Amino acid sequence: MSLKEQINTSKLPDHIAIIMDGNGRWAKKRGFFRNIGHESGAKSVKKIVEACAELNVKFLTLYAFSTENWNRPKLEIDLLMKLLISSLKKELKTLQKNNIKLHAIGNINSLPDTVSKELSDVIEKTKDNTRLTLTLALSYGSREEIIKTIKEISLKVKNNLISPENIDISIINNHLYTRNLPEVDLLIRTSGEQRISNFLLWQIAYAELYFTDVLWPDFGKENLYEAILNYQKRERRFGKTSEQLNE
Ligand code: IPE
Ligand code: IPE
Ligand code: MG
Repeated sequence: MSLKEQINTSKLPDHIAIIMDGNGRWAKKRGFFRNIGHESGAKSVKKIVEACAELNVKFLTLYAFSTENWNRPKLEIDLLMKLLISSLKKELKTLQKNNIKLHAIGNINSLPDTVSKELSDVIEKTKDNTRLTLTLALSYGSREEIIKTIKEISLKVKNNLISPENIDISIINNHLYTRNLPEVDLLIRTSGEQRISNFLLWQIAYAELYFTDVLWPDFGKENLYEAILNYQKRERRFGKTSEQLNE
């Protein structure tokens, strides 16, 4: 049986998030500039989006550019932004054809105008699609998101719109960039690093974590199926005992 056939379609993760890491190392190993790695990584994005749509995973969130990535050399940032624009232009047709809705989280205002313009254009054009929500985390940092959330809630408290004793999980959820997304079920990080790098810190409270040594440009559908099969073998207890779950 193929890996895909082994997947239990009634136990799919609803929301998969991926830290797409290893483009630079992939390029370096081949003697290429880092940006060839990013271009190759864009091809993996296409494959994984397609695989999620085929499997009927409803939400896929991809960490594409972090707040800390602004500290990279200007040339690399410029080329990444260019790649983003060209990929958005190129993939609009594919998104429409596959009924995929594009969404973005992060400090979108800090992106160059040319990028945010292209991004809003694709988001607007795909807004009624229903098969899969593809969220790109761009200029995203979880700490920045939490600070923004605290500021917004504090202002509402000051204006008597929220009373401090009513602040709970759902009020916080409703002020995060991810307010329209469900909890993350499965978080994948490629390239062998075992860290979160400021991604969805609040949202992964009960996510299953999956780390693989595969570099992002080498990550294909079969690797995704492996991650999902691994996820399906786990028992998600959410603090309860195993016996309680089987009652
Ligand atoms: C991930 O690959 C892509 C981005 C962070 C934009 P890297 O560029 O971090 O690749 P490595 O980690 O240097 O191999
Ligand atoms: C995390 O990768 C950010 C993205 C994948 C967009 P990095 O390569 O920036 O993370 P660190 O610096 O190794 O933690
Ligand atoms: Mg990296």
